Order: sequence, then structure tokens, then C-alpha cells
Amino acid sequence: MNNMRNSLIAVAAGIAVALPIAVSVSASNDMRSEFQRPTEIPFPAEAPYSLHMATLGKMLFYDPRLSGAQNMTCASCHNPSFGYETPVATAVGAANEPIGRHAPTVLNHAWTPYFFWDGRAASLEEQAAGPMTAPVEMNGKFPEIIDRLSAIEEYATWFERLFPGEGVTRDTILTAVATFERTIVSGVAPFDRWVEGDESAISESAKRGFELFVGEAQCSGCHTGWNFTDNLFHDIGLSTDDIGRAKYESDNPLAIHAFKTPGLRNLTYRAPFMHNGSVDDLEAVIFHYESGGIVRDSLSPLMTPIEIDDSERQDLLAFLQSLTAENTDTPVPVLPN
Ligand code: HEC
Ligand code: HEC
Repeated sequence: MNNMRNSLIAVAAGIAVALPIAVSVSASNDMRSEFQRPTEIPFPAEAPYSLHMATLGKMLFYDPRLSGAQNMTCASCHNPSFGYETPVATAVGAANEPIGRHAPTVLNHAWTPYFFWDGRAASLEEQAAGPMTAPVEMNGKFPEIIDRLSAIEEYATWFERLFPGEGVTRDTILTAVATFERTIVSGVAPFDRWVEGDESAISESAKRGFELFVGEAQCSGCHTGWNFTDNLFHDIGLSTDDIGRAKYESDNPLAIHAFKTPGLRNLTYRAPFMHNGSVDDLEAVIFHYESGGIVRDSLSPLMTPIEIDDSERQDLLAFLQSLTAENTDTPVPVLPN
């Protein structure tokens, strides 16, 4: 298979999609193997993958007719050119005023157990209903969106084909969007090729950065696995008024100012960083961790100041940069009229 990097290949059962693998040399038996890319996207049994479903969802993701004033799409805030984020601290929606939080990436969410910075949505389907109807985001209303999409012949035909007897409904829209979102997977990065055994894939500096990441700097205490997240909530000691996870875990003292650990793929496109977009670039992220964050009762016990010198700082940075895919081209769909 030549063009594996871009291709998503459905396996026979139609419930999983094979992912590109860098090279077929097996990983050496060190820490690297804990960060190995998966070979398939997991799809829930009730929303199996099909190419047509993902294509329909992709059109919807880019379609302004899902918003009240027909001027916003999911991609307005989750733009593939910016690592599926938007390069402002806190996203601006239909009401033309900033939403309280930074738009997180939608990369690699087929592997995510719950959504939003505070984890309040249990599935991508449930999550997607939020922005479509939130007045400060897309300000759409379901009866209106359904009427509008049903009036477009191509959409009506596709929905009827994919959801016989149901057609365009709130649930079928959400299923299609969520199925597309599960196919948004970060491409093969230099780091992945190194994990697979290509010693020249990343610089010596990035290799030292990896040793720091899993060693002295303790980053992998929370940023674990191939997508570099434990999917848990931690207070890392940023200056913020947002109580985060504590809204849903009021009796857990460690939930105050705690947010879901973000994955670290394609970071070079995703600045600014954190739930409030308060950290401008990767250098500033590293300085934050060196400081250990604001000491308070909710601060994660895994947060302790780190002492590194300038060259180690560069190594850590080189490693983080090696997590960005070599090819991030994303074809944008043509929408039906
Ligand atoms: C106006 C900007 C904006 C628009 C438009 C928007 N989002 Fe978001 N999105 C956000 C913000 C901000 C958050 C984080 C909110 C929070 O955590 O409280 C978010 C969170 C998410 C998440 C959760 C990610 C995670 O890490 O848990 C997903 C998935 C997502 N949006 C998908 C979508 C989809 C699908 C659409 C279109 C139907 C959409 N968004 C439209 C700004 C936007
Ligand atoms: C205690 C768990 C923990 C440790 C240890 C940790 N992180 Fe994080 N990291 C998080 C959480 C949680 C966030 C989001 C915090 C927020 O927005 O309030 C985050 C955010 C980030 C971000 C920004 C990502 C984005 O999408 O905004 C980067 C980059 C990052 N961490 C890198 C590192 C590095 C490098 C280290 C080691 C020096 C490290 N982290 C150590 C939990 C941790």
C-alpha cells in the first residue's frame, strides 16, 4: 500500500478503519513502544463506520446552514489549518463575543471517553448538539436546521439512503457528524517513524527531549499513550477563575481548576494553549511546567517544579515538535446546493 499516509481503508466488517502505519520495522523494546500508533480507529457498535456516512458528516461539519445565521461552521472554530482549533485565546461565536474557553482540537477523538474541557459530554454525538444550538456558538435551532437540510435534494437523498425511514433528524445529523469526527486522526509524524525503528526520523535533540518527557520532566505522568493523554482531569496550576471539572465533582478537592489533559499531536499548529488560551507558545508551556504552577490545594501532586537548562529546554521543544504530522493537508468538501 503506497499512499498509506492519506488513505483510510475500511476493513471488511465495516466497523473499523485501518490506519496508516509508518514503516513495518517493529519497535524496540524500550519506552518508545508505549507510544505506538494504533492500527485501527475504534467505532461504536451503534455507529459503525461507512465511507458514505463519514462523507455526509464531513459536509455537515463544513456547512454554515447548521448555524442560525448561516455564517458559522464547526470548522470555523475547529479549523484543520490550525490543528482543528482556532488561533485565538477564547473562540468567538455567533453572538460575536468570546466564549469562555479555548476551542480544543477535534483530533483523535475516536479514542476519547468524554468531551469538553470539563468532560461533561459522554459521546461525540451528545457533544455535537451543544455547539449547533448554543446561542454563543452557532445559534441554530433543530427544527430550522432540519427543514433547511431536507429542502436540499442531495442531502435529503443521502440521509434517506443512509438512514432509511428516518431521513434528516436531530439524531441522524449528530450520528453523521460524529462518524466524520472519528475519522479525524493525526497523520504519521517523525516521532511515529522513530517509534517504528527509523533512527534517523528525529534529531538527537528530540530523542533527548523524549528522555526528559518520560523521565525527569515527568510529562508522561499525564500525557500517556500514542495521543499523549490519560484523559483525566488535573489542575496544573494556571491562573484561572474557571473551576473546571469541580462543577461535576463538587466533593473532589482535586477537581477545582482541573481540566482534561489534551493530546499533544500536531501541536505546532495549535497555539495558543490551555483551556483559556492563556499560554502563547510551546516555549511558554515549558516555562510554566518549570515553575511548577500556582501552589494551591487543588494542584495535582504530579506538578512539581522542574530544573532544566537552556539546551534541555530546546530538547523538550524539539521532541514536542516531532509529534506534528508531516502531511496535514485536508481536502475540504464541496457542499450540495
Ligand atoms: C464558536 C466556536 C465553536 C464552534 C462553531 C464549534 N465549536 Fe466545538 N468547541 C468550541 C469550544 C470553545 C469548545 C470547548 C468548550 C468547553 O470545553 O466548555 C469546543 C469543544 C468541542 C469538542 C470537545 C473536544 C474535547 O477535547 O473534548 C468537540 C468534539 C467539538 N467542539 C466539536 C464541534 C462540532 C462538531 C461543531 C459543529 C457542530 C463545533 N464543535 C462547533 C468552540 C466551537
Ligand atoms: C499533572 C498532569 C500533567 C503533567 C505532569 C503535565 N501535563 Fe501538560 N497538560 C495537562 C493538562 C490537564 C493540561 C490542560 C490544562 C488546562 O488547560 O488548564 C495540559 C496542557 C498541556 C499543553 C497544551 C495543550 C493544549 O492543547 O492546549 C502542552 C503542550 C503540555 N501540556 C505539555 C506538557 C509537557 C511538555 C509536560 C512536562 C514538562 C507536561 N505537559 C506535564 C496535564 C499535565
